[in-house]
Amino acid sequence: MDKVVLGIESTAHTFGVGIVSSNPFEILADVRKTYKPKEGGILPREVASFFSSVAGNALAEALQQSGLKIGDIDAIAVALGPGMGPALRVGATVARTLSARYRKPLIPVNHAVAHIEIARALTGLKDPLVLYVSGGNTTVTTFVEGRYRVFGETQDIALGNLLDTFAREVGIAPPYIIEGMHAVDLCAENGEFLEEKIPYRVKGQDVSFSGILTAAIRLVKKGFKLSDVCFTLREVAFSAVIEVAERGLAHTEKKSFTLAGGVAASDILREKASLMADEHNVLFKPVPKKFAGDNGVMIALTGLLALSEGITIDVEKSFVKQRWRLDEVDIPWYPKIPQDL
Ligand code: FE2
Repeated sequence: MDKVVLGIESTAHTFGVGIVSSNPFEILADVRKTYKPKEGGILPREVASFFSSVAGNALAEALQQSGLKIGDIDAIAVALGPGMGPALRVGATVARTLSARYRKPLIPVNHAVAHIEIARALTGLKDPLVLYVSGGNTTVTTFVEGRYRVFGETQDIALGNLLDTFAREVGIAPPYIIEGMHAVDLCAENGEFLEEKIPYRVKGQDVSFSGILTAAIRLVKKGFKLSDVCFTLREVAFSAVIEVAERGLAHTEKKSFTLAGGVAASDILREKASLMADEHNVLFKPVPKKFAGDNGVMIALTGLLALSEGITIDVEKSFVKQRWRLDEVDIPWYPKIPQDL
């Protein structure tokens, strides 16, 4: 093994610790502690206190899984954003402490970049167009001139947020995607499409979901069959993101396409994405479901790539950035994936 990097993820609901090596590239540990609220959305402060309570065990478990000692780790990577401030600060504090205490370089990782990098690494698609869909993001992106450029995004809420909020509002939570199915998918079974009841919003390269959410909740309150509303909501929302991805493919002329982020675990979305790619003769491979959601492995492997270019940060300068945009990050290692190191 050339280098071993330990990565820490704490941007949203999951505190993750991953350990990976280069030459050969291997995932040596993957520990995730996920905060699940009893009801309602996630409150940043509650998440932060949950993260603080599980961080020590998560680290110990990850080292145990890998069979390594902290001294065997070459560097510590940490997701410094984007995400919820209180949650981010827990991961950052743990990472800074490890870096300072054990004198390991600290590597700043952008969470969105990490979702893309794990999709590239595990699909082997080196230069894909990426549809990145999660609870907090809906972005069509690909690498152009040094960075991941945004070719389309949501103007308001993210796709995952649309599905989760709808599920909670109409009482079909828990909304998490399990075995490729979201609560909205379960509810949509045997549903029929309600013509012109939910607005389809694609504006240029962008999508908008807040109007869809309001319309869908209103339909349920008016007494429309829940299965029909679930089916229609999903059709409209998924068609919109696939359409902007299609435009991104036409515009950038990329020859491959991947899905990344938590909603990439959805079987229905994967199916729609695959059909669209086939129509355009583009190779489609989505991120493996197990690594669609937030995890420490993606932070560690992005750290490995960054370290190969000498990217580290001083502990004193390692501030969290709640709104750290994907297109602000230089990607000097592109098109390398961890297997190339
Ligand atoms: Fe994420």
